[in-house]
Amino acid sequence: MRSAIIGLGVIGKVHAKVLSSQQKMVAALCDIDIGAAERVREQFAPDAVIYSDYRLMLDEIKPDVVHICTPHYLHAEMVIAALDRGINVLCEKPLCIRREDIGRILDAESRSTAQLGVCQQNRYLEVNEFVKEYLADKKIVGAHGSVAWSRDADYYNSAEWRGTQDQEGGGVLINQALHTLDLVQWFCGEPTEVVASKDALMLGDVIEVEDTLSARYFGENPFSFFATNCAPCGFPVQINILLSNKEKLTVLPSVLLINDEVKLRKGQKQVLGKACYGNGHEALIDDFYDCVATGRHFTIDGAEAAKVVRMILAAYESNGERVSV
Ligand SMILES: NC(=O)c1ccc[n+]([C@@H]2O[C@H](COP(=O)([O-])OP(=O)(O)OC[C@H]3O[C@@H](n4cnc5c(N)ncnc54)[C@H](O)[C@@H]3O)[C@@H](O)[C@H]2O)c1
Repeated sequence: MRSAIIGLGVIGKVHAKVLSSQQKMVAALCDIDIGAAERVREQFAPDAVIYSDYRLMLDEIKPDVVHICTPHYLHAEMVIAALDRGINVLCEKPLCIRREDIGRILDAESRSTAQLGVCQQNRYLEVNEFVKEYLADKKIVGAHGSVAWSRDADYYNSAEWRGTQDQEGGGVLINQALHTLDLVQWFCGEPTEVVASKDALMLGDVIEVEDTLSARYFGENPFSFFATNCAPCGFPVQINILLSNKEKLTVLPSVLLINDEVKLRKGQKQVLGKACYGNGHEALIDDFYDCVATGRHFTIDGAEAAKVVRMILAAYESNGERVSV
């Protein structure tokens, strides 16, 4: 199979590294910053042709799989362009940043012969896969998810799209905390309503979006959620779940506690990206290619990835009122 990557910044490079480690053939790299693409070609994709126009690249190279690793606001148009050309597309999170784009993407997916997958890779981490299975025959009473990370002005100034409403689509919730909110939703099911409050505690002079958000989601299995980029340092994300059998699960990236006893510790696999990304990218990318090769349906498709986007957009719209998701 021949692959292509659009966007060779921080995460595009991780995709290239994973593809190289899995001996997958990268036929093209596309970035408006040609130097960024050239640097990745040198390290991980010696045979790649370089493009700055992604539509031209899709038309000329016709890859079997294209990876979209560009800023948030470009995902919708790039996903649709690939699907309409019958090209399988693996898009970085979030699927999109506007409600109207969800329907456009799902329509493109249903009229395409190709598959769409979204990189919500933390579902592939050992501990999270175990929890999902563990919960299958249990009743959840409630849950809480928490992301306490640290991002400073240098981070937000490192690329123009970061911290902007029209290009990032929000702050800590849609970017850093999306994975953890997605996991809570995966464990608890889709909520119907949310009340949320967002703030710029420390980065108000630097960004036009929230650096902190707290939310309470309502549904069959209710949960609360807290996310901040203002912690003194990055702490492990955490999900707490209370079950009707009185068990209390504490889900951390590398360990699961049940009633304070260690139930599972993750194995020591090599991580190819930043440690906070986990090693889910390798497993997710491998699974997506297997789905494309065998025709098996990839589970984190447009409809699945749209769930967390709807939850995030509803939290942004809430402004202290209880609103539908
Ligand atoms: N799954 C994860 O854990 C994870 C981690 C980090 C980032 N991401 C996601 O990956 C995406 C990219 O984030 P990043 O941190 O790598 O950003 P980045 O700014 O480092 O890289 C984005 C790249 O896209 C390029 N680009 C912009 N417009 C383009 C266009 N029209 N055509 C081609 N290239 C274009 C830029 O020049 C840049 O090189 C975001 O959606 C982000 O949320 C996901």
